[in-house]
Amino acid sequence: MAQLLKRTHMCGVLRAENAGEKVVLNGWIAKQRDKGGIIFADLRDKTGIVQLTFDEGVPEDVFSLAQTLRGEYVIGAAGTVRERSAKNPDLPTGDIEILVEKLVIYSKAETPPIYIKDDDNVDDNLRLKYRYLDLRKLKMQRNLSFRHRIAKVTRDYFDQNGFTEVETPMLVRSTPEGARDYLVPSRVNRGQFYALPQSPQLFKQLLMVGGTDRYIQIVKCFRDEDLRADRQPEFTQIDMEMSFVDVDDVLAIQEGYLATLFREVMGVEIQLPLPRLTWDEAMERYGSDKPDTRFGFELKCLNQIPCVKDTEFMVFRNALDNGGDVRGICIDGGSKAFSRKDIDKLTEQTKAYGAKGVIWIRKEEDGYKSSVNKFFAPEQLAEITEVFDAQAGDLILIVADKPKVVFDSLGFLRRHIAGLLGLLDNKQFNLLWVVDFPMFEMDDEDGTMKAMHHPFTHPKEEDIPMLDTDPLSVKADAYDIVLNGVELGGGSIRIHDSELQAKMFDILGISKEESQKKFGFLLEAFRYGTPPHGGIAYGLDRMVMLLAGESSIREVMAFPKNQNAQCMVSDAPNAVDTAQLAELGIGLCDE
Ligand code: AMO
Repeated sequence: MAQLLKRTHMCGVLRAENAGEKVVLNGWIAKQRDKGGIIFADLRDKTGIVQLTFDEGVPEDVFSLAQTLRGEYVIGAAGTVRERSAKNPDLPTGDIEILVEKLVIYSKAETPPIYIKDDDNVDDNLRLKYRYLDLRKLKMQRNLSFRHRIAKVTRDYFDQNGFTEVETPMLVRSTPEGARDYLVPSRVNRGQFYALPQSPQLFKQLLMVGGTDRYIQIVKCFRDEDLRADRQPEFTQIDMEMSFVDVDDVLAIQEGYLATLFREVMGVEIQLPLPRLTWDEAMERYGSDKPDTRFGFELKCLNQIPCVKDTEFMVFRNALDNGGDVRGICIDGGSKAFSRKDIDKLTEQTKAYGAKGVIWIRKEEDGYKSSVNKFFAPEQLAEITEVFDAQAGDLILIVADKPKVVFDSLGFLRRHIAGLLGLLDNKQFNLLWVVDFPMFEMDDEDGTMKAMHHPFTHPKEEDIPMLDTDPLSVKADAYDIVLNGVELGGGSIRIHDSELQAKMFDILGISKEESQKKFGFLLEAFRYGTPPHGGIAYGLDRMVMLLAGESSIREVMAFPKNQNAQCMVSDAPNAVDTAQLAELGIGLCDE
C-alpha cells in the first residue's frame, strides 16, 4: 500500500490565519488544471474543498505525479498553507492554497458515471444507483451530519429528562398502524411469518407495563405503502412513551424538546407554548389536519349566508341538501395573479380531491366578475365577498360538495396557491399542535369504522358516554405536531384499561377472537397493573428534511429506496433461488 500521509487538518477548515502552517490533507480530487509550469488541483473531503498548488518549487517526481491526477483520485498531500494571490470568494477556503511538497496517490478512479457537484441535475435512479458517489457531494455530507446532530440533541435532551433508550424487536407480530406489513418468513417455524414493525407501538406500551416509566428510541419502521416525497418504506422514528401523564404533560416535554432542538441546530428561538388548534378548528380554518399557517387564505363557510342558504343554484343546492358544505377562500390580490386559464388549471388539479368544479368571483373596483354571474345578483355577490372581507383585486374560490371533498379541495388550493405566489418561506418555522382528533372515521370504501390514530388511543374522558350512542362524534386524546403544513409526529394518551380497550375493538368491528389473536398479549399485560401512559413518535427523516430546507426525505437518508421501493445500490428486492424458498416452505404463484 502507498504510504499513508497522516492527516493534520480537514480540507474545508483552512483559512488565511493558517498561512505558513505545514499541513497534511487527505481526500478526493475534485478538479485538476494543468497550466504548464503550474498545476492546480481541488481537494475535497466531507468538510469542503481546498486548492492544492504544484509549482516549479516542488520536487520533480511530485510535479510529474501531479500531472497524472484525475477527478476522484484519492490522495494524500503534505505542504504549506499560503495566502493566494487571486482569491476565490465562492470558496470558504478561497483565501489560501496549499503549496504541495509531498503527494501520494492512494487509489485511482475511473471517470464517475455522475458529476459530483451539489447542483447536478442528474436522473434520480442514477443518483441512487451510485449513491456512494452522490454522497461525496458536500450537500449530502452536510445533510448527513445535520441529521446526526439532530439525533444527538434528541438523545441528550431526553436523557436529561429521565428517558431510557430501549431497543424493541424488528421481527414482530404485525402492528396496527394502518399500512401493509413487510413480512418475513420463518424457517424454524415453517409456514409462519414475522412482520417488520410499522412502529414499536405495542412494545413501548409493554415497556410502560414493565415499569420503564420513560422510554425513547430512534428506531427504524417499515410500511409497505405508496411512496411520496415525504414517505419511504423504511424510515426512522423518534419514538417515545411516558407513564403517569396526561396530554398536557406529554406536550410540555415535547415543547421543551422542540425549543431545545430549534435553538441548538437552527439557532432559532421558538415561542412557547406552541399554538394548539383542535382538529375541528384546523379543518374549519385551513381545510387540513396539518395546517400551514405561514400564510392566510383561511376557509370561510357560506352555508348560512341567505343568498346561499336559499339559492336555487344547483351546485350549492345539491351540496346543502345532501348534508354538504359551501366554503371558499379569498386570495388577496389574486385577481391579477390568476388568469381565466390559470383558474381552469387549478380547477383541473382540484379534481384529484373529488371536487367537480371550482367557482370563482373576482372583486373589482366597480363590481364583480364571476363564474356564477347568471345565478347571483351583484348584491348577492357582495354578500358573499363580505364574508371574506374581500377588497378590490381579490379572487374568491368556492367549492360546494361533501365536507371531506370541500376541505380537501380548499386545503389543497390554499397551499398550492401559496406556493405559486412564493409565500412558502422555508426560513420561517410555524409549529403547532392539532389536538382532539376524532376517535373514529368512516372508511368511504367499505363503510366500516376505523380508528383515526390507532385502536389504543384513549377517547376524551367526557366523550366516553357517546361511544355507545354517537361514536363518530367522540374525540380522542390524540395530538399531532405540525411544521409548515407537514405532519412531523403524532401520538396519544393510551387506553390502559382492558374493558375500555375491548369496547373499542367492539366498535371497530374487531371480534373478541380476532383481538385476542392479534393483541391478546397486550390485553393480558393490562390485567397485571398498568400505569396510565401516553406517547408520541416523530418522523426523523421528515424533521431533518424540513429543517435542512430539502423537499424530499431522500435527500436526508444515506441509502433511500426509489419510487418503486427498490434499493438501487444493492438491487433489492431480488429473486432468490428455489432452494432458499423451499427451505422456507414457500412456492411462488405464477402471477
Ligand atoms: P404515526 O403513524 O403517526 O404514529 O407515525 C409517526 C410519524 O412517523 C412519520 N412517518 C413516516 N415518515 C416517512 N415515511 C413514512 N412512510 C412514514 N410514515 C410515518 C410521520 C409521522 O407523523 N405509533 C404511533 C405513534 C404514537 O402513537 O406514539 C405512530 O407510528 O412523521
